[in-house]
Amino acid sequence: MRTIDWIDGAVVIVDQTRLPGETVYLRLESVDELVAAIQRLAVRGAPALGVAGALGVALAAAGHEGAQEQAHAVHLLETARPTAVNLARGARRVAALLPSFDACLAEALRIRDEEIASSAEMARRGADLVERLCGPGVRLLTHCNTGGLCTVVDGTALAVVFELHRRGKLAGVVASETRPLLQGARLTTWELAREGVPHRLAVDSAGPFLMARGEVDAVILGADRICANGDVVNKIGTYAHALGARAAGIPFICVAPESTVDLATASGADVEIEDRGAAEVAGHGAPDGTAAVNPAFDVTPAELVTAVVTDERVFSGRADGANGPAVG
Ligand code: MRU
Repeated sequence: MRTIDWIDGAVVIVDQTRLPGETVYLRLESVDELVAAIQRLAVRGAPALGVAGALGVALAAAGHEGAQEQAHAVHLLETARPTAVNLARGARRVAALLPSFDACLAEALRIRDEEIASSAEMARRGADLVERLCGPGVRLLTHCNTGGLCTVVDGTALAVVFELHRRGKLAGVVASETRPLLQGARLTTWELAREGVPHRLAVDSAGPFLMARGEVDAVILGADRICANGDVVNKIGTYAHALGARAAGIPFICVAPESTVDLATASGADVEIEDRGAAEVAGHGAPDGTAAVNPAFDVTPAELVTAVVTDERVFSGRADGANGPAVG
């Protein structure tokens, strides 16, 4: 199953808002439809968003509209969500080939295929690292959804989990539920169950306590943007797990493709953090009219990150290599 693909002139996605109850494929035939799907998280996760942005430009090119309309469509795609660098990056890379539909589609499919290859490479490198740091029988905690649903197939951090399971080195995984939209509870548990990986679900705030109680050997999760200084921008709740890991003295590992590394952004302080509004937070029983703050992502400072695993390298500290070479 591919999370996102180009089939017969349309972008086809698995509607992630319907999982785990139903597996529904949506055919998106216009940029407006795709942008709406991105904004309601029917397609989500940084690498999948990069592919969505790229295929979206192919849709715009197929529309035979004028240069101005196409530029507007690219702008809508680039800005549909602000935090994951992959979305604007994917859209811009393909937009450089407008107005040729054939060239745009070929480039978008190249981005799709690069993400598929990246997942396999991250799985191997990440599993090697976890084995080296933690040995066999490792107990991991993960946050949000970093499986095939956030990429095209296989995933980022969850691809490492699947690989460790295949190697017989994994004791089990705690999936953090990931408030408020429950990507962990709905999507990660679904993917882990499909692969037969032993797992338990925990509320987000249990993570640091489980680490303190000695029940977690390492935290492994993804990123929406990795800044030049090595700061990791990822789903809200990541920072708390990083603090918990530091307090417990266990590794905190981030797994993301190079397409998520953004050397043009100096640090996490420079990243626009999407706020998804009050309804997602206050709509679950708070008194009517309760104000809420709902940052969808947070920033984990580089010094709390033991290692970043990409499809090309394993590094700690700065992402731009300014503090020395990659460690693997
Ligand atoms: O709001 P989402 O569901 O798009 O957020 C996704 C995440 O934060 C993932 O953890 C992230 O994209 C990592 S996958 C490389």
